[in-house]
Amino acid sequence: MGDSQPMTTTARAVIDLDLPGDRISRHVYGHFAEHLGRCIYDGFWVGEDSEIPNVRGIRSDIVEALRELDIPNLRWPGGCFADTYHWRDGIGPRDERPRIANTNWGDVIENNHFGTHEFMDLCDLLGADAYVNGNIGSGTVQEMADWVEYLTRDDDSPMARLRRENGRDEPWKVPFWGLGNEAWGCGGGMSAEYYAEEARRYATFAHNHGGNRLTRIAAGANEDDLDWTRVLMKTLMECHGCTLYGNLAYQAVSFHYYTHSGSGINTEDATGFDERQYYETMAYAAGIERIVRGHVAVMDSYDPDNRVGLVCDEWGTWWNVEEGTNPGFLFQQNTVRDALVAGIHFDVFHRYARRVTMANIAQTVNVLQAMVLTDGDRLVLTPTYHVFEMNKGHQDAENLTAHLREVPTATVRGQQLQLVSMSASTKDDTALVSLSHLSADAECTVTVSLRGRAARVTRARVLTGESVGAYNDADAPDRVAPRPLEARIEDDALVVTLPPHSFATVELALD
Ligand code: AHR
Repeated sequence: MGDSQPMTTTARAVIDLDLPGDRISRHVYGHFAEHLGRCIYDGFWVGEDSEIPNVRGIRSDIVEALRELDIPNLRWPGGCFADTYHWRDGIGPRDERPRIANTNWGDVIENNHFGTHEFMDLCDLLGADAYVNGNIGSGTVQEMADWVEYLTRDDDSPMARLRRENGRDEPWKVPFWGLGNEAWGCGGGMSAEYYAEEARRYATFAHNHGGNRLTRIAAGANEDDLDWTRVLMKTLMECHGCTLYGNLAYQAVSFHYYTHSGSGINTEDATGFDERQYYETMAYAAGIERIVRGHVAVMDSYDPDNRVGLVCDEWGTWWNVEEGTNPGFLFQQNTVRDALVAGIHFDVFHRYARRVTMANIAQTVNVLQAMVLTDGDRLVLTPTYHVFEMNKGHQDAENLTAHLREVPTATVRGQQLQLVSMSASTKDDTALVSLSHLSADAECTVTVSLRGRAARVTRARVLTGESVGAYNDADAPDRVAPRPLEARIEDDALVVTLPPHSFATVELALD
């Protein structure tokens, strides 16, 4: 942006406030923490002897920041790491736990100080549900079955007894269970057909103990590999006589979608990009809608009653690592561009709430599109963090269709990219409208006709920065932070003027 006033464009939209649709699961605001780089070690986990304030070794300022987001769930221990992880390595006295090689991420030595008990403690501190990702790639059915029993069984079964010996009396609640990860790649290089059979077999022995009910999630497709989803659905739904007492073997299938500017993950920098790379990134992020629509269509054809959820358990941007950092640690900065990628994804997850039951950004701390970055005892909230915070009112609200009528566009790689993305939801006589404005240099006045109910603005905020590449760091932690936005109701329409490259939320009270 120069010193001159930005050009102003206009957009129009309509929301029927009295026609709520599907419930947006709070779990689409889920997170992912892998044993990768500084996500767990020197991230969540600093150890009990650290001078950084912690509770039982878990860093307190991170917990506090994530609680502010109402973090609904946390996926762990991977990712690719999950299919090399043997859970017995991470229980018992810490100084007796084996040291293993983390062959996926930096080939560093892992001391297993953060294991099952530490993860469940973290979930308790966060007030988040546990999403434990089991090992199919290099594990066994028995190993996975034992882990489920260790975590969730009461009484004096062998695994429950072992848990008690390690200091935990009560079983934990574990609602989400991953059946391996990226089975087509780091999870074992399997064909869809082979994996689908394996997933069904492993799921059969991942029991519901006592009152615990697992949502078993089959490791799904990469991006638009609809055939993978088709095979998972076919194997699940057409398996005559092999349902588990009338239940499906797995209750959800996942897919992964990483955003870059079109030249592949890990090929461009997180900062210092140009306008072409910026728009191409926006277009790539908007591509999530086509991907979700495709998977939903396949799932609808096998499962018209919507019994199986679609879970995007890895999403976000993937840039080059920051200079001087370990290439295997995936540490990257986070700019206004990343925040807009998040805004676009949430609009799609909200729209497809009927089928999309969970999503997990990769990853929560110090890795890829993180919420928080740490530097010694200092902690920085990223622009993406603020999108999660501004959007948290959508959690468990009912979606409202936002019809965009007239929208400015840009041509990106020969395709038209809409420069405004939006979604809305309603809960308890309130509504929340989210708007991502993608133009790099123009501002946009958006007029949203509000039909069906009278509304008044209770709060409006905007997140932007000096440029699309603006970011926060320890010396300037609030360069990109939410600020008040002027929003008014005029002739039953919400009117806001969005600055260039901005994300905004408007909270409404409904009469
Ligand atoms: O999030 C980083 C890695 O990306 C995960 O371990 C893997 O599942 C994916 O390829």
